[in-house]
Amino acid sequence: MDMINRPRRLRTGDTLRKMVRETRMSKSSLIYPTFVVEGQDRKEEIPSMAGQYRYSVDRLMYLAEEMLAAGVDKLMLFGIPDHKDERGSGAWAEDGIVQRAMRALKQRFPQLYLIGDVCMCEYTSHGHCGILHGEYVDNDETVDLLARTALSQVEAGADMVAPSDMMDGRVAAIRATLDRAGHINTPIMSYAVKYASSFYGPFRDAADSAPAFGDRKSYQMDWHNSREAVKEALSDVAEGADLLMVKPAMAYGDIISRVKAATDLPLAAYSVSGEYCMVKTCGRLGYIDEQSVMCEMATAAYRAGADIYLTYFAKELAAAMDEGRIG
Ligand code: PBG
Repeated sequence: MDMINRPRRLRTGDTLRKMVRETRMSKSSLIYPTFVVEGQDRKEEIPSMAGQYRYSVDRLMYLAEEMLAAGVDKLMLFGIPDHKDERGSGAWAEDGIVQRAMRALKQRFPQLYLIGDVCMCEYTSHGHCGILHGEYVDNDETVDLLARTALSQVEAGADMVAPSDMMDGRVAAIRATLDRAGHINTPIMSYAVKYASSFYGPFRDAADSAPAFGDRKSYQMDWHNSREAVKEALSDVAEGADLLMVKPAMAYGDIISRVKAATDLPLAAYSVSGEYCMVKTCGRLGYIDEQSVMCEMATAAYRAGADIYLTYFAKELAAAMDEGRIG
C-alpha cells in the first residue's frame, strides 16, 4: 500500500511509546485523603472502601511513615469527631480531632505537607455543610465559621487549607482571616467546582456525614452544568484562591479541561470515594483489572488538564509510577 502517514509507526514498541507520550505524571502531584478518628489504637477499615481506614492519631503516625516511604508526602485530612452538634463546633476547636492530628504529624514528620479540608458536614449533627435555619443552610453565618475553622487548622500546623463546603464568598473570608492573623503565605486550594454528586456515597459512610434530611443541592452544583463551572472557578480566582479543584474527577473530564482553559491557577482533580469503590469492588470480583483501570483513570484526569490528583489510590499510583506502568 502506498501510504505516507502510518500512525501505528509510533506505537511499535514500549520505549518509543513512552518517548512520545503526551501526558506525564509525577508523585509530587499526588495527595492522599486521610480520615482521622478519636481514641487510641484504632485502624478501622471503611466497609464501602476496601483497603481504606479511619485512623486514631497514634496509628496515623504509621500511615504517614508508609506514605512517605511510598513517595507520597501530601495528606488531606478529614476529621471524624465522636461528638457532633448543631453548629459543628468540633470543626474549629483548638483540640479538635484534625487539629490534634496536625500537631502530632507536624512534630513527628516536618517534611509532610498537610492540607486541611475545611467543611462542617463531618462535625454537624444534621450532616449539612453549614449552619441551618430551618432546612436552609445559611451562607453568611457559615462562612464566618469556615474562616474560623481554617485559621484553627493553620494554627495547628496545616500548610494549606481546602474549603469544600460550597458556600459563596468563603475563599475571600478565609483569606482575610488568615492574613489578619499573619498567615499571608498559607495557600488556599478551593474546591471551586464541586458537584452534588452521588459518587460521594462511600465518603459519607466513612465520615458518618450523610445529611439527616434532604440533599446538598442548594449549595453543591447541578451536574447538568458546565458553564457554571467556569463562573465558580473565576469567582474563586477573584476572591484570592491559589489553587482550584474540580470534583469528582472520573465523569468530569470535560469540566477539568474547561476550567483549565479558563484559568491560570494550578488545577487539582479529586477522584472521589465512589470512583475508588467501583474500581476496588469490580477489581476484587475479578471483573476488571484494578491496577490498570486505576492508571487509566488517573491518566485521564491529567490528560484533561489536572496538575494535581487527589486519590485514595495514591500509594498504589506512586508504585505504578516507580515501576513505569504509568507516567
Ligand atoms: C466534605 C467533603 C465531601 C467529600 C470531600 N469533602 C463529602 C460531601 O460533600 O458530601 C467527598 C469526598 C469523596 O467522596 O471521596 N464536604
